[in-house]
Amino acid sequence: MTRILIRTGGFIPNFKCKYSTAPKSVATIQIAGKEYLTDNYTNVTPKILSYLNRNLHLRKDNPLSLVRQRIVNYFYSSFTHRGNPSFSVYDNLSPVVSIKQNFDDLLIPVDHPSRAKSDCYYVNNSTLLRAHMTAHQSELLRAGLDNFLMIGDVYRRDEIDSTHFPVFHQVDAVRSQRKEQLFENHPGLEIFDPTFDPSNPFAFPISISDPAKQSCHTLEAAKLMEAQLKNHLLGLVKALFGTEIKHRWVDEYFPFTHPSWELEIFYDNKWMEVLGCGIVRNEILANAGPNNSIAYAFGLGLERLAMALYKIPDIRLMWSEDSGFVSQFQNKNVNAKITYKPVSIYPQCTNDLSFWLPPSLTIDTFVHNDFYDLVRDVGGDIIEQVRIKDKFVHPKSKKHSLCYSIIYRHLERTLTQVEVNEVHKDIEKAVTTAFNVSIR
Ligand code: PHE
Repeated sequence: MTRILIRTGGFIPNFKCKYSTAPKSVATIQIAGKEYLTDNYTNVTPKILSYLNRNLHLRKDNPLSLVRQRIVNYFYSSFTHRGNPSFSVYDNLSPVVSIKQNFDDLLIPVDHPSRAKSDCYYVNNSTLLRAHMTAHQSELLRAGLDNFLMIGDVYRRDEIDSTHFPVFHQVDAVRSQRKEQLFENHPGLEIFDPTFDPSNPFAFPISISDPAKQSCHTLEAAKLMEAQLKNHLLGLVKALFGTEIKHRWVDEYFPFTHPSWELEIFYDNKWMEVLGCGIVRNEILANAGPNNSIAYAFGLGLERLAMALYKIPDIRLMWSEDSGFVSQFQNKNVNAKITYKPVSIYPQCTNDLSFWLPPSLTIDTFVHNDFYDLVRDVGGDIIEQVRIKDKFVHPKSKKHSLCYSIIYRHLERTLTQVEVNEVHKDIEKAVTTAFNVSIR
């Protein structure tokens, strides 16, 4: 697969990180002052790295920060121990994580599709930009924490449209309990199956084939945790959307929890998924330290909640510095009911781009996400959508061809066709070099 990285670096004007070639021509990449070796896994782009220090979730007047504060307040006020909040909050952890943190520690199988290069931003073959906040779960458990929230930016390669952006923000959490806490009023009940020895957790046949619970847990413990989890998360959604909100629980699968669910709410005439959750797999707890507790975990996306709560029509607006946007969220009480009013809608420009693939690629092996990243690297934030329009194999020459539509729109002003054409030409040039294609 062609890698676009080093070659596209040069022409990005706001290029904040440095690529350099050390002796022995080992390429390195610098992220937040640290140097990393690059290899054939490296696919993080300068454009993506430029988002790394934006910290939208911590900017006082950003809608994502308002939702973050409401969620933190809910957990602070709902769970206290002797007057102090029981949850600690981590919202400043580095997004550069190891493959162990993002996948291995969470029992994500080595062949799981979420590890694919086409879905993640890899720094190199052992390091990536975290694809979810759950990447920090094991290290915080290992540090001895039992109740905590992890909040930050996560990175996933994805299509481009009004609800998808390669950087978004998540709140993830763990709540653990020991027997005395969980069964405070029923001291005769146990967390673990009588044949399970918590001090030797891996001697027990671990299984998740029972849909109700993990083999090491008692049904009482699993059911009580499930009831608490659902109750707490429903409470959160009601605190955000009002007590009348319609909801449903959907059975899910996550490699790191069992059982697992998704919570959906009925919003704007459709079911919208708001979070994933479940009972933490005991192997994860046992590997990280605590061997006498049971925990639940959940993860939710802040963009989706903020877009629904404030009626923000386009995910790119979260990144806007335009005063027309920013002022609508400035100096507001976090619980204020805010409805975003579009400043104005500027017209779109759509240009198509068709090209012949080199003989080494086919319409099925060409990686769309590689193309999307390149388009965004060159076009920046005026890229509103990119979609595949046509795939074609010439009947005689057997040459393969692809056609994409690129939709340009500036959030703050009208783009002229002339300036769009210039950017489009630059994209054509970059695509030609990066993928060895020929423009039709
Ligand atoms: N990490 C999951 C995601 O990003 C969400 C999740 C977190 C699910 C914790 C279960 C438990 O989709």
